[in-house]
Amino acid sequence: MKEVLVLYYSRHGATEKMANLVARGIEMVEGVQARLRTVPNVSDVCEAVENSIPESGAPYVELDDLQKCDALALGSPTRFGNMAAPLKYFLEKTSAHWLSGTLVDKPAAVFTSTSSMHGGQEATLLSMIIPLLHHGMVIYGLPYSESDLLTTKSGGTPYGASHVAGSDNSNTISAEEKRLCIALGKRLAMSVAS
Ligand SMILES: Cc1cc2nc3c(=O)[nH]c(=O)nc-3n(C[C@H](O)[C@H](O)[C@H](O)COP(=O)(O)O)c2cc1C
Repeated sequence: MKEVLVLYYSRHGATEKMANLVARGIEMVEGVQARLRTVPNVSDVCEAVENSIPESGAPYVELDDLQKCDALALGSPTRFGNMAAPLKYFLEKTSAHWLSGTLVDKPAAVFTSTSSMHGGQEATLLSMIIPLLHHGMVIYGLPYSESDLLTTKSGGTPYGASHVAGSDNSNTISAEEKRLCIALGKRLAMSVAS
């Protein structure tokens, strides 16, 4: 069985919903399963330590998950046009994997959620891709053969899946955004299915 790590951070739940859709797409491909993992919050109170098990959502990722996975889907809310600090913090702990080439040639894809339509989705997705390229990963976006890219009135980009959650995060994931999340997961899974 091949495994795709779906690693995400979500404060208000939008990116988590997207992660579940990406996982659904992954598991549509025979012989491939999704492993959902998240990262703890970071705190400016340095003594603060999160419980080892989150109160809700996926378990926390371990560095070993990167070794085990055959591919990676990375999801983050947009924070000032960039990925959220907890994910970046986790990535900055992966030097040993970078040195040993753990992720070289493994496929990867990215997804994000913003509050506003032009709030920097593409900037975030591209900035999330950069550390994955440093790790030697092979990036999968969404091709325009996914016709939802042409008709969506909210999220969905060739750089990865996206969702416009609204200023109070109350927007439901649109039909197009949903299909594009699933398509991204499916595409990633098909790249590793044997
Ligand atoms: C510090 C901070 C910075 C943010 N920056 C942006 C931004 O640049 N553009 C945007 O549209 N939304 C921005 N947002 C809103 C989140 O991206 C949006 O609410 C997202 O859907 C939250 O995802 P989540 O529910 O997975 O936590 C920001 C939120 C915070 C807390």
